[in-house]
Amino acid sequence: MSGQTSGLAIETAGLVKTFGETRAVDGVDLSVPTGTVYGVLGPNGAGKTTTVKMLATLLRPDGGEAHVFGHDVVREADEVRSRVSLTGQYASVDEDLTGTENLVLLGRLLGHDKKAARRRGELLLEAFGLTEAAGKQVKHYSGGMRRRIDIAASILNTPDLLFLDEPTTGLDPRSRNQVWDIVRAVVAQGTTVLLTTQYLDEADQLASRIAVIDRGKVIAEGTKGELKASVGAGSVHLRLRDAAQRPQAEEVLRLALDADVQREPDPVALTARVGGGAANGQGAAEQAARALAELARGGIVVDNFSLGQPSLDEVFLALTGHDTRTQAPQDTQGDDTERHGTKDEAAA
Ligand SMILES: Nc1ncnc2c1ncn2[C@@H]1O[C@H](COP(=O)(O)OP(=O)(O)O)[C@@H](O)[C@H]1O
Ligand SMILES: [Mg+2]
Repeated sequence: MSGQTSGLAIETAGLVKTFGETRAVDGVDLSVPTGTVYGVLGPNGAGKTTTVKMLATLLRPDGGEAHVFGHDVVREADEVRSRVSLTGQYASVDEDLTGTENLVLLGRLLGHDKKAARRRGELLLEAFGLTEAAGKQVKHYSGGMRRRIDIAASILNTPDLLFLDEPTTGLDPRSRNQVWDIVRAVVAQGTTVLLTTQYLDEADQLASRIAVIDRGKVIAEGTKGELKASVGAGSVHLRLRDAAQRPQAEEVLRLALDADVQREPDPVALTARVGGGAANGQGAAEQAARALAELARGGIVVDNFSLGQPSLDEVFLALTGHDTRTQAPQDTQGDDTERHGTKDEAAA
């Protein structure tokens, strides 16, 4: 109830989960407003799934607190469970059953009578573009269809809060767009969505607020605009004709873009962020164009040039000074980041 009055679907304070030596979630504070998509952005192993599992009551936290709609995820797990649904890296549908059979079965398990379960199933299959595949076994679905039936299954009963754990990882662009449309439709129905992703553009497309997590810690949080102001709206990648001109090019770019310029391992390549805090309202493209003109004026030959949204790696570089694959200096565990089993799962 307090969650309703405070307008927060999720509120965590100092949330911790450890697996042996690994602090998978290391003091996470989150405030997720109701009725929005909240993005949790981070690389593989950042602690996204572990966080989601604690919030969905599938894992018991080792420290801190988490409330979902005002209910404590440990002490009031039943209340939490009645209001949330989860999909993503979990098998909720049965591969050997058809799309229709799955949805009807799950609908019946949720307490609907046969007719209601069938009707709801048909509606969802239609809404998710799966009518033609309704009679096919799920094991014959494409990756994109599979992701859509997973989401359909998780919203059979419209949940107040839906966890989508990397719903588009590994999908082709068309399927990603279909899933994005579904997420938008789900939110339009009043459901709050917590979406985890490794893709900045996905968080950008869907989420109102984004938390960036790295090694179990929130390293940045804010609206998309705030996040972009801190990491830059885009990056310029360029390759020079002549490696000898790189120091000069670096200086020109630094002045023109008012940004840090990075030397790539390739001796003719440079990367710089544009459209960040110092952009003076100038668009990234405009800034980049100006920088190119300055380079030309300086007699620097550019063979290849591109302007793109910052990748997750670049966001991480901007926020943490290391990329998503490098170990932090204080991390003495080597690269022992693989899973060691699931003994702690479903403990709560
Ligand atoms: N059941 C588990 N047992 C041991 N280590 C785990 C377990 N689940 C996750 N981890 C570890 O915790 C860290 C965070 O994992 P996870 O939450 O799955 O990250 P993400 O979902 O962001 O990829 C990783 O180092 C992972 O290897
Ligand atoms: Mg995960």
